[in-house]
Amino acid sequence: MDTVTIADLGKHVGEEVSLRGWLYNKRSSGKLHFLELRDGTGIVQAVVFKGDVSPELFAATDRIQQESSIEVIGSVKAHAKIAGQYEVAAKDVRVISPVAREYPISPKEHGTDFLMDNRHLWLRSKRQHAILRVRHAIIKAVRDFFDGRGFTLVDAPVFTPNACEGTSTLFETDYHGEPAYLTQSGQLYMEAAAAAFGKVYCFGPTFRAEKSKTRRHLAEFWMVEPEVAFLDLEGDMRLAEDFLEYVIGRVLETRREELKICERDTTMLEKVKAPFPRISYHQAITILQENGHPEAKVGDDFGGDEETVISSRYDRPLIVHRYPTDLKAFYFKHDEDDPSLSLGMDILAPEGYGEIIGGGQREDDLDKLERAIEAHKLPREAFEWYLDLRRYGSVPHAGFGLGIERTVAWTCGLPHVRETIPFPRMLNRLAP
Ligand code: 4AD
Ligand code: MG
Repeated sequence: MDTVTIADLGKHVGEEVSLRGWLYNKRSSGKLHFLELRDGTGIVQAVVFKGDVSPELFAATDRIQQESSIEVIGSVKAHAKIAGQYEVAAKDVRVISPVAREYPISPKEHGTDFLMDNRHLWLRSKRQHAILRVRHAIIKAVRDFFDGRGFTLVDAPVFTPNACEGTSTLFETDYHGEPAYLTQSGQLYMEAAAAAFGKVYCFGPTFRAEKSKTRRHLAEFWMVEPEVAFLDLEGDMRLAEDFLEYVIGRVLETRREELKICERDTTMLEKVKAPFPRISYHQAITILQENGHPEAKVGDDFGGDEETVISSRYDRPLIVHRYPTDLKAFYFKHDEDDPSLSLGMDILAPEGYGEIIGGGQREDDLDKLERAIEAHKLPREAFEWYLDLRRYGSVPHAGFGLGIERTVAWTCGLPHVRETIPFPRMLNRLAP
């Protein structure tokens, strides 16, 4: 007799199989026990009929508690009404390991803090399981997109002497007596890699000591960052929209079931087709002024609320480009037509999910970059290697970063990013 997975039950209809997993739920009615078994690949109902098993086994089955690990042996039947669903008529149920105490998460409502404290167990719940499977599909699609287009994966380091995204959100560590930071972004290293490989991307954890509690900020989040030699802002925006269309398309193809569990209305996701609408930062300010923010003025940065007002006028992701240089990081190339603007762009997800992509064209002129490093009061020494990239065959280049967690939140329709990563790290949470 074979041990099979729940996902594979369709191949074993009529056969006797063994399934191993955990008891997700249980109900009984006189002569029958209905065990919901989960094994990570799915959930199946195993029916224990009093007439099929010994009285001892029938009684013992009734005592098995939620989340005990068990093995069920029985024959596989197709569900009478629902295609693609199966049931197991159990003839034996063995407890592999009983629970040591009552499982803390029951089907009743729990508070967020309680669930977060029990994140290591909460991952077993249907909805969390579905969200993390969507996350996996997004990551797989991200990799397939770049791998299929001639990009080389180049891993960026986590310890770095450089502040890429400003000095206010750095996590400082003691690196053998020297200060080092946890990386905020792999971008600077991808610029080096782009000059070696042409088209590259990195994908890894990045860190920001965000001092504010919001529904979009994590202290540790995963970012994918492509960087391309001989690419300008226009090309960068096109790459980003093709990329998003591909990623969302793949999730819709492969994770319908999970999106349903998240109760996600996918109408808006179906519309994620390039090209996306584009507006300049200045146009975005005008939209704000005309839509309940008369105080908005050039020079303001956008918070979550502003992003929602701007993006809610569109039914697809929105590209906002050419922000004032003062609002953006030191490395952006300035617009030749108006040097007060940087050749940067953000992509705002629809439905109020806010910025999911940030990127743009990099300064490739040595003198200008040296001045920008000075103007941002960054330590020149730590950036010497980065300046080398402009000393030895500098070329126009551009790239962007996509935050995985915000993309998962948007795709699944979640109000907060805390459920989009297995073990979230936030202002007031380091455990479990
Ligand atoms: O806009 P950001 O700061 O851009 C960069 O880091 C660039 N160096 C990327 C590049 O051009 N290679 O961050 C990029 C994206 C944001 O759009 C957002 O999706 C995500 O990273 N992000 C966060 N996600 C969760 N928590 C945080 N604290 C985040 N900060 C940024
Ligand atoms: Mg940004």
